[in-house]
Amino acid sequence: MPRATRAAAAVPAAPAPAAGPAPAPVLRKAAAPTVHENLVLEPRDVRFDWSQLPLHWIPDEPMATHTINVLHLLLPEGERWFVKVFKEALPLITDEQLREEVLGFIGQEAIHAEAHQEVLDHLLAQGLDPRPYVRQIGWLFQRVLGERSGLDPRRRRENIIERVAFVAAIEHFTAFLGDWALNSPGLDRAKADPTMLDLLRWHGAEEVEHRSVAYDLMVHLDPGYLRRVRGMAVSGPLLVHLWVRGVRFLLAADPTLDGRIRPTWREARQIAGRGMLPDPLRSLRSGLRYLKRGYHPTQEGSSGQALSYLATSPAARAAAAHH
Ligand SMILES: [Fe+2]
Ligand SMILES: [Fe+2]
Repeated sequence: MPRATRAAAAVPAAPAPAAGPAPAPVLRKAAAPTVHENLVLEPRDVRFDWSQLPLHWIPDEPMATHTINVLHLLLPEGERWFVKVFKEALPLITDEQLREEVLGFIGQEAIHAEAHQEVLDHLLAQGLDPRPYVRQIGWLFQRVLGERSGLDPRRRRENIIERVAFVAAIEHFTAFLGDWALNSPGLDRAKADPTMLDLLRWHGAEEVEHRSVAYDLMVHLDPGYLRRVRGMAVSGPLLVHLWVRGVRFLLAADPTLDGRIRPTWREARQIAGRGMLPDPLRSLRSGLRYLKRGYHPTQEGSSGQALSYLATSPAARAAAAHH
């Protein structure tokens, strides 16, 4: 796996201050988003030290902590599945630049999966056993959504494109969540654990950075609008279902809570109001934006903000210093 730590090189340089009188402003037509946005995706190595992570890493906020912890339950299996689907799709790609982007995407997602796996191992060491839930997720991704054997080439291609469309819809949400993580002062106010904040923001920033790749791959393989709608129609409700189950599971499995906390949407909205979770209604509206005719992932989030975070992420710096 490529190990690169050249985040800083990817940050666009700030324009140099102009000498003398400022030039007259030039009115330019806003450029339409292009499919290939001079994207060079590099998997960045990271190092996290979880030894000091408290079980409730947002102090005194077990529901907020575990709602975000669902990420660690879903992502290792989910992102390994993304990697498999995209490797299956590679031979179908006829555009060299898109192929490069897909390879960068594969490298980044593989590292994300491992980073979240470390948190799962830490939860287990603290007496919260995530394995029963993770086994179900593994079954879903490997058996239900995995590669199907015995298909003729036409059906096989169709099956791969269908799964790419599921990934594209999920990637809409990972970019939405990534953008939220990068703009969530509520987590800092609540004194969330800095290492976990860095994991969320490093990962979130790479999600914003590569937010177009899955969508562009889907459109490359099938430009039809129905494919996009179907991807969201399956992935959106599935994600909500898995999340709700995940929160219930973690709150029930937390050895310090004795099953005392039962999550409700009302409470989730209150916590979101205090800035510790994305607002459920905003998340729903974001899912609906994916269905707009003129949608493209570049309309969401800021690549500049993502790249500047990646240039300063403590975990990325720790890995760079180690090499
Ligand atoms: Fe990821
Ligand atoms: Fe992603």
